Amino acid sequence: MNLLGISAHYHDSAAAVVIDGLPVCAVQEERLTRHKGDATFPLSAIDWCLEHAGLEPDALDAVVFYERPMLKFDRILTCTLRAFPYSWRTFPKAMKNTLGEKVWMRGIISSQLGVPGPKVLFTEHHQSHAAATFLTAPTNHAAILTADGVGEWATLSVGRGEHANGHTKINLLREIRFPHSLGMLYSTFTAYLGFKVNEGEYRVMGLASYGRASMTDKVRKLIRRTPDGAFSLNLDYFEYHTTSRRSYSKRFIDLFGPPRNPYAPIDLKTADGARFADCAASIQQVLGDTLVEMTRTLHQETALPDLCLGGGVALNGVANARILAESGFERVFVPPAPGDAGCALGAALYADRIYFCNPHRDLPDHPFWGPSVDGSDLARLAREDGHQVDQLDDGLLIDQIADDLAAGRIVGWMDGALEFGPRALGHRSILAAPHTIETRDQLNREIKFREEFRPFAPVVPFEAADKYFQLTQGAMRLSRFMSGVFPVRPEWRSRLQAVTHIDGTARLQSLERAMAPRLYSLLEAYGRRTGIPVLLNTSFNLAGEPIVNRVAEGYSTFLRSGIDVLVAGQTRVTKRAAEQRKEDACLRSVAKSGAG
Ligand SMILES: [Fe+2]
Repeated sequence: MNLLGISAHYHDSAAAVVIDGLPVCAVQEERLTRHKGDATFPLSAIDWCLEHAGLEPDALDAVVFYERPMLKFDRILTCTLRAFPYSWRTFPKAMKNTLGEKVWMRGIISSQLGVPGPKVLFTEHHQSHAAATFLTAPTNHAAILTADGVGEWATLSVGRGEHANGHTKINLLREIRFPHSLGMLYSTFTAYLGFKVNEGEYRVMGLASYGRASMTDKVRKLIRRTPDGAFSLNLDYFEYHTTSRRSYSKRFIDLFGPPRNPYAPIDLKTADGARFADCAASIQQVLGDTLVEMTRTLHQETALPDLCLGGGVALNGVANARILAESGFERVFVPPAPGDAGCALGAALYADRIYFCNPHRDLPDHPFWGPSVDGSDLARLAREDGHQVDQLDDGLLIDQIADDLAAGRIVGWMDGALEFGPRALGHRSILAAPHTIETRDQLNREIKFREEFRPFAPVVPFEAADKYFQLTQGAMRLSRFMSGVFPVRPEWRSRLQAVTHIDGTARLQSLERAMAPRLYSLLEAYGRRTGIPVLLNTSFNLAGEPIVNRVAEGYSTFLRSGIDVLVAGQTRVTKRAAEQRKEDACLRSVAKSGAG
C-alpha cells in the first residue's frame, strides 16, 4: 500500500511516503525551496518524495492531509466572531486566508496530484502528532501526550497507544482546546522577549539559563490548573485569540514591564536584560511544572513505563528532561520531528495503521529520510573553483578530518540522507572541537551569527556518554535525537566549555554506531587524538537559512562563512589552495611594485 502524507499551511510544510507500512522518505519543503519555515503547499517535497519512491500519483492508494481544514476554519471563524468588534480589522484577512486554498484541501490535492477526491483522507492534527511519536517509537504500549500552539481546536491531548496482535490502537482520551494552550503561552513570551514566534522558542530556553525564576508567581497569574487536571489561561493577559497583531495584552505589559525591542541586543548586565532573562527562566519553570504535573497524572492513570511526547512543545529539551526525571515514566520518546513537519509522516502512518488497519511494523529508528549527497558533485564544484580537493578512502578521510578537528579547524560535514526535523543529527552538521570558549565565540561570530547565550550541542558515542554527562535512567533514549538537556559532569566542564551552557548543562546527542557509522568513527578517531571522543555538533546552516540539503548549498555555505573544511561523502575540500594562490598573487604584485 502506497501512502503520501502532507502537512502544510501553518509552519514548516512537509511530505512523506509510506509503502507497505514503512517510511521510504520524508522531507520539509524549506529544505528544497530554501525558504526557512516554508509553510506553503509542499509541491517540491511531494515531487521529490514521489520521485524518490518511484511512484506516479496514480499509484497512490491515498493522500493523507495532517489536519481537518473545516474544523480549523470553524475555530478561526468562531474565535473571530467571538472577538468582535475587536476583530473587525482582522476579520476580512482571516476569512480570506482561511477561505482561500487552505479550506479546500481535497480539491487542491486532487487537482495538484491528479488523484481522485475519495483518495484524499484527513486525520486530526493531534492524531497526526500522536502517530508521529507513538508509531515511530520502539515500544508496544505507551502513554501519549501531544502539545503545541494549536491544531484545529485541540492544543494538548493525552491518551495511549498500543500494538497488540499485530494491530494498532491510538486513543486520545482528553484534550485541551484553543485558546488555552501551552504552546501559545510559551510563544507569547517568545514574542514579548523580542524573538520570532515558531523560531525563537529555542532562544527563550537558552536565555532562561541566565535568569532566576523569580517571576513564577506572575506567570502563574496567567495559567491556572483546573480540578480535572487540565489548565486554563487567564485570557485577559493575551490577545492572540482576538487579533493577529499582538499576542500579549496591555495587562500583560502592566504585569511584566515593557517588552523587549527585538532589534536591541540583550545586555544581561542591565536591569532590563536581567528582567528578560528572569522572565524566560520563569516561563520555562512554569511550563516544566505544568508538564510534569500532567505527565505524572498520566503515569498514575496508565501505569505504563513508556511515554511518547509529540507536538512542538516536545522540542523543549529542558522540559523533556524534567518529565523524564519527575513524572514516573521510565522512558520518554520524542521523535526527530515532533512539530508540524513530522505530522506528514504521522498522518501517513496513522492512515496505514488505523484507517486501513494494516499490521504494525517496527520502523527504522533514525531521522535520515531526505535527499542524499554525492561527494563527486562536491569534488567537481570545488575543483572548478580551484580549491584543494582530496578524495580519500573512508579510513584515511576519517583520520584526516579528526586531524583537522584536533587542529582547531571547523568542519562542514555532509553524509548520506538529510535529517527529517529541525535538528542536525550527524548528516548535515558543522563540527568543531568542544573544548574552549573561543571555539564557541568563533562559531557565533563567523558562522552562525547568533547571540552568545545560545548554547551549542555536543555529540558523543553512546557508550561514552555517561562518562561526560550525568544521565539518569532513560536519558540515553531522550538524547538519541537531542531531545533532552542534561548536566555535564563537573569534572569535564572545563574541557567541554564550548558545549557546556552557563548552567552546566548540554543538549547532547548520544550516538549509536548503527545510526550514523561515519560520524561515530570520526568521534572515535577524534577521541584517539585528544582523549575526549566528544565533538561540538551544530546544524549546517547560516543564521536565517534552512539546514543545507544538497552539496551545492553546503558548498555555498562553506564559501560564505568561516568553515575551514567541507566534507561530502568521501570528498574533503579546503580553502587553502585558493587562499594560497591569492597570497602568492598578492606577494607577486607587491614584489612587482617594489621592483618597479
Ligand atoms: Fe501542531
